[in-house]
Amino acid sequence: MRTTVKLRNVIGKKVKRVDALPKVTGQAKFAADMYFNRMVYCSLVLARKPHGVLKEIEFSEALKIPDVIGIYTAKDVPGENQLGEVVKDMPCLVPVGGKIRYYGDVVAVVAAESQEAADEAAKRVKLSIEELPPIFSIEEALKDEIKIHEPTNVPIHKKIRKGDVEKGFAESEFIFEDDFHADYQEQAYLEPQGVVVLPDIDYGYTVYGTMQCPYYVQNSVAHILGIDLNKVRVIQTETGGGFGGKEDVPSYVASYAAVAAYNTGRPAKLIYSREVDIQTTSKRHPITSHYKIGVDKSGKLKSIEIKAYMDMGAYATLSPIVMFRTLVHAAGSYEIPNVKVDVYGVYTNKVPPGAFRGFGSPQVLFAVESMIDEISLKLGIDPIEFRLKNTLRVGSRTATNHLLTESVGAVQTLENVRTIADWENLKKEVEEFNKQNSFKKRGLGVSHIIYGVSLGAAGQHLDASGAHIQVNKDGTIDVRIGGTEMGQGAKTVIAMLAAEELGQKLEKINVHQPDTAFVPDSGPTVASRTTLYSGNAVRIAARELRKRFVQLFAEIFDTDPEDVSWENGRYFDSKGNELSFDELVENAYMKNVKLNETGWYETPKLEWDHETGQGEAYVTYSYASQIVLVEVDMLTGLTRVVKGFTSHDVGKALNPEGLIGQIQGGFVQGMGYALYEQIKMDRGKIVTDNFNTYIIPTIHEIPEELKIDIVEDEYSSGPYGAKGIGEPSLMPTPAAIANGISRAIGKRVKRIPATAEYILKLIKEA
Ligand code: MTE
Ligand code: MOS
Repeated sequence: MRTTVKLRNVIGKKVKRVDALPKVTGQAKFAADMYFNRMVYCSLVLARKPHGVLKEIEFSEALKIPDVIGIYTAKDVPGENQLGEVVKDMPCLVPVGGKIRYYGDVVAVVAAESQEAADEAAKRVKLSIEELPPIFSIEEALKDEIKIHEPTNVPIHKKIRKGDVEKGFAESEFIFEDDFHADYQEQAYLEPQGVVVLPDIDYGYTVYGTMQCPYYVQNSVAHILGIDLNKVRVIQTETGGGFGGKEDVPSYVASYAAVAAYNTGRPAKLIYSREVDIQTTSKRHPITSHYKIGVDKSGKLKSIEIKAYMDMGAYATLSPIVMFRTLVHAAGSYEIPNVKVDVYGVYTNKVPPGAFRGFGSPQVLFAVESMIDEISLKLGIDPIEFRLKNTLRVGSRTATNHLLTESVGAVQTLENVRTIADWENLKKEVEEFNKQNSFKKRGLGVSHIIYGVSLGAAGQHLDASGAHIQVNKDGTIDVRIGGTEMGQGAKTVIAMLAAEELGQKLEKINVHQPDTAFVPDSGPTVASRTTLYSGNAVRIAARELRKRFVQLFAEIFDTDPEDVSWENGRYFDSKGNELSFDELVENAYMKNVKLNETGWYETPKLEWDHETGQGEAYVTYSYASQIVLVEVDMLTGLTRVVKGFTSHDVGKALNPEGLIGQIQGGFVQGMGYALYEQIKMDRGKIVTDNFNTYIIPTIHEIPEELKIDIVEDEYSSGPYGAKGIGEPSLMPTPAAIANGISRAIGKRVKRIPATAEYILKLIKEA
């Protein structure tokens, strides 16, 4: 741990969330709160069939509804009728003669004077679909007999080839093999998808909506309308949670609404119902994996071979990028000389999964950590000791052969979690409990993870961000970034960084809603990258401004600029000279000092070989270790998480309160994935389409105790050393809980969610 800079102001201190007040008082404006004169309401006509060819669209009954303005189909799309961030395999509106590939394919957009009229008309549009045999499983799709897309159902394959796995197995003393399945998880953000698209005073369109990635939305709307990027302006409204579910999806939602806005010439509002949202939008990918691991006599991992298949649903959407993270994280946080990983993306006639907190890694981390747990059990080695023996350190090489030179807090997180859990005593307590109880059994689950920060080698062209800072003559500050606030606390961290660098008070800083008209394309707000990218961009801009203030102060008092300090609303020197920030700015304004600045942060190019999957996968990595204590009811199979202990290497805790919030939230969301959340389908239609049937954890399920430890192994390029916490907060939990259950019941949990039904079945198996 190093502390390289003197912190003067707010970094590392307890502060109030900058967006707390408007959110708790109801002042905050979400997409559904936006109203415009002459606005039309939209509703989507969905295919509601899993596979087929669209033969005819029949409107006559729908058009009889009073207040219907128009029903728009593929013919009414002025630009290219094609969506998709990575692979252009998805029509915006399926044309007559085109293929239906899942229940949620959109065929038409209805615009009406009221939401009721729009919904009723959408229901009355009749579709004739010639049905094709559908494919609902990875196994069926792999046969490639019925093709969802030409030329194959398995279009994407990513791989790692490091060392020689066969040689590694030959040199191993023990070999372990198993299969795992991790199923869907729905993001379950509170606020469903929604946008308003309006023709604007710049002769283009302005989009207001709930989203993570304004620049993706801008691209998509321009493409669908066939207009230039400078004719589309995107402003993010307050966003009630995203969790990855608002990475690419809002681009589609905005495109449907844009078709209505274009054809009516009026503002068009499209707000999803919860049911349509769950039925048609992205989730966590189901992944089926096969693992084989070789270990030598001394307990060192020698060789790992992994095959993983991910269900991409009907369209590739973000899958190729998600798969990259699956690939890199599949072998876990360990130094293994021989690694072979193959990840395949498979089309099925189901909803297309996409981004979800962890982005393709929790599924394989569950698998690899289950293997590690089973190996430590079979070899009779303490699970933390076994991980300590094999984890990454400075000087280690990752599965992709990335040499780690700094900021590797993996060992520290393992040691700290062992300490905060009082590990040896906890083990004894659990043993004692199990001796005294036969219908309830307790188990301790351990997990350990690595997380590659930001987009990495697969998305390098997007790994840069901008910022704009303007200091007003009254001393208040406008900060604009390209990253979005979706509940994770980005605005607060950004305001803290600006306050720290400029010496102004936190409450004088306004971090505005992202607006593409103010900040250049800053990439997506995903991959836990905002603190690093937007944070550094803000620091760069703020430091330029500060230089001017320091210079001015030195001129006013005729002192040495080197002697000038700034903190919490004032500038001063060692001789007792002092000015408030506001007074200094007033001076600057009177002297025509430039009071605005832009910042741009980009990371150095990563070396990466696509053929071998070798190289620098990510700019840096975060690490975490977790212990959970679970209790399984042996009569019902129901699991309760009693206690949790978690240690996270975040580089530097900029906003400690926000960090704790992320870790608590991530833990509970990971717990939902591990135990309760289950998407059920009937011929490709999701039937668990609201929160009465799709069960997420509530306050009743949270553990009695969650102890949190923060490791600060600083990253030299991070703002004050910070890396990222948004996703790593969730990632260790599913594996830890699965391992806890396995140890409690004496049977290996091989699928998540580990619902009561599944656990009871395991218990009853001979
Ligand atoms: N926390 C809240 N409250 N709401 C969210 O939608 N999204 C998560 C995580 N934490 C999310 C959240 C996901 S998927 C990501 S990638 C990060 O926040 C993004 O924010 P960051 O870049 O600021 O870490
Ligand atoms: Mo987060 S899944 O990268 O939006």
